[in-house]
Amino acid sequence: MANTEHEKPRPKKQRRSGELRENDAAAAERRRRIDAERRQLPAWAARDKLLALLQQHRTLVLVGETGSGKTTQIPQFLLAAKFGKSSGSKGAVPDDGADEGAAAGPGPGSARTAATAPAAGGHRAYGGGQCIAVTQPRRVAAMTVARRVAEEMGTKIGQQVGYAIRFEDVTSPATRIKYMTDGLLLREALVDPLLSRYRVVVIDEAHERTVHTDVLLGLIKGVQARRGDDFRLVVMSATLDAARFVDYFPGAVAALVRGRQFPVQVLYTARPEDNYLDAAINATLQVHGEEPEGDVLVFLTGQDEIDSAERLLKDRLSSLPAAARMAGVVGAAAELPGEEAAEGGGGGVEGGGGGPAAAEAAAAVGGRPRELLVLPIYAALPPEQQMKVFEPAPPGTRKAILATNIAETSITIPGVRYVIDTGHVKARDYNAKLGLESLAVVPVSQAQARQRSGRAGREGPGKAYRLYTEADFSQLAATTPPEITRCNLASVVLQLKAMGIDDVLGFDFMDPPPRTAILRSLELLFALGALDNSGKLTEEVGLRLSRLPVDPMFGRVLLAAAELGCGVEALAVVAMVSADNVFHTPRQKEAEWRAARLKFLSREGDHLTLLNVFRGFMELPKESHKARTGWCSDNFINIRALRKAEDIYTQLVRFMGHPCPPGLGLPLATCGDETTPLRRALTAGLFPHAARLQPDGSYRVIATGRQVFLHPSSVLLERKPDCLVFNELMHTTRTYARDATAIEARWLPELAPAFFAAKASAATAGVSAAGAAR
Ligand code: CDP
Ligand code: MG
Repeated sequence: MANTEHEKPRPKKQRRSGELRENDAAAAERRRRIDAERRQLPAWAARDKLLALLQQHRTLVLVGETGSGKTTQIPQFLLAAKFGKSSGSKGAVPDDGADEGAAAGPGPGSARTAATAPAAGGHRAYGGGQCIAVTQPRRVAAMTVARRVAEEMGTKIGQQVGYAIRFEDVTSPATRIKYMTDGLLLREALVDPLLSRYRVVVIDEAHERTVHTDVLLGLIKGVQARRGDDFRLVVMSATLDAARFVDYFPGAVAALVRGRQFPVQVLYTARPEDNYLDAAINATLQVHGEEPEGDVLVFLTGQDEIDSAERLLKDRLSSLPAAARMAGVVGAAAELPGEEAAEGGGGGVEGGGGGPAAAEAAAAVGGRPRELLVLPIYAALPPEQQMKVFEPAPPGTRKAILATNIAETSITIPGVRYVIDTGHVKARDYNAKLGLESLAVVPVSQAQARQRSGRAGREGPGKAYRLYTEADFSQLAATTPPEITRCNLASVVLQLKAMGIDDVLGFDFMDPPPRTAILRSLELLFALGALDNSGKLTEEVGLRLSRLPVDPMFGRVLLAAAELGCGVEALAVVAMVSADNVFHTPRQKEAEWRAARLKFLSREGDHLTLLNVFRGFMELPKESHKARTGWCSDNFINIRALRKAEDIYTQLVRFMGHPCPPGLGLPLATCGDETTPLRRALTAGLFPHAARLQPDGSYRVIATGRQVFLHPSSVLLERKPDCLVFNELMHTTRTYARDATAIEARWLPELAPAFFAAKASAATAGVSAAGAAR
């Protein structure tokens, strides 16, 4: 088989001794298995047809069931294919294995991790426009898929196959397939508006319609008109709605990859659950106790939730008597969904064998695994741990995978037979009228619920437990509206402006965002000083902000900090804010972590507290892993988050200080123990999130008049300042302001005159800034 003639693996230098030989043998075996698996994927059956279509059409819209091999296989097919007139007589359809030949690429070139801030990387030669870009809405998908494809191609990650996400670039000049987040490709378009380093751009997971995907689609539509006949666009989607994309791109063609889908029995709860997290844990344990083999996939909303679910599950498991761990004993604690409805695998059932009866039949075979292996997956996990979910469970073991909605369509985990759907998802929401964005846990749409359930039926009949009632399901929205219609557009508008697209309102969006949202972001950019009176990007602020790989408001904090002599501190704060979940807060050890937190506590706010943690961490000997892990665990600090923050900090320092564009060449001074310069810098960027204390102890956002509460995690809670700025809002039962710093109200008109003057003069329109500020 041609496919076994891969490039020989290079000697692996960094392996621990002794493991080498065994690992290589195991790796070879793994490769053989993977190779056989690949060829079974539905995408393989469609390969020649797809490549032929791409000869004729410059845009291909590819629809295929999740798990059919779109993301991992299509880019490999594209490797050897040549498009356009220059392709000569060779034709598009390569021989079997020809793709690996082409993939071998020209030379060594080493993988670089976190080498440059993406925009700072500037142009890097990808063999003169020979690279294939594949965008993903999520970082985890970009990383895990790239690793998988590198393995399939028998190369090291960062060689022929690499990935790039914000603050991390694992590519080299040898890279031919580059998985990346959609946001990052958008950033690249800033310095390379024709995307000239790519001959094919694949916009994957297009059905998700993230704001970055939508903007990219619009940009690429323009690029197509300006680039030669050798440029191709592939839009891949997991839902059947191909028509929207085909209509949007002139001359586009759609193709369908038929997936396999077995029937999935859908079960609902009889009554609504008060606490879906507890319900999910009970359901997991019950499935484990009662159902035959097959892994469980649990959909939760975020890292915090997954972390606590992991802990709770492990506690519950270890408190069970050994003999009971496998049997139905745990069932008593759980009330699993009772009423059922067969949702025969949705549309396009193929080769499934019929209905719930088949599910029952399948359930009768196979024993019940004894052990339950709990595996989380989310963006902040280190890559080795992310890859663990894809490993088959050892014999006698069942995996319980705790995932965010990443596992809905972006990644496919083999072995899953049971899905537990909490019915919730963390989603961005933007109130254009109030100009405030928030991240909130909201109910899923019906389409999402179906997609989640479908994950149980990839390899055989499965079961999906929906932890809500059937009546609740029928109340859910049919689909989720595109993100661009419900998010803060400031960063996107800034990038469009920086690409010379001045008429943002007239941009050819597939679904135009609400006019008010665009106007709001123009206003904000104006207030930040990024746009001038005529709506043009300003050199001093706008251009610089567009290059900074952070939100414009935080970018403005950094620019102000450079001026105020606290660049070092502001960069540390921004890095800490970008690395989530710094503090570990186990419920059972509340007294301990609260005591540990006191060491870092700043009465002036959360940003300064984060800064103290960062400083403490940076004082430790860098080489001493032991000192660092010890310090972190003593202080209830998440070492992963701190390493991440350190990494981001280093890159931002290089970026801010570097004299050549896109570096900003700004001085980076430190303000030492003085806090006023830093708090002023924070005010200069976060002023739209400034709030005043109210007599009842809540706060009122000055810009909008909205009532918010200080988040329970804030260090300011004990002594509330009269005026503060905060990072973001969070909705749960109330609206909370997170990560806040005490400021002086009088700084506001001084540091953001355009904003507060404009607000004051527009006092006629409802809530005025001036009115709310009193
Ligand atoms: O993109 P699509 O949903 O069509 O499928 P894919 O992500 O290309 O996945 C194809 C197959 O590769 C699935 O069976 C996955 O389970 C498998 N895969 C894997 O085993 N490990 C990974 N890291 C990625 C994919
Ligand atoms: Mg995919």
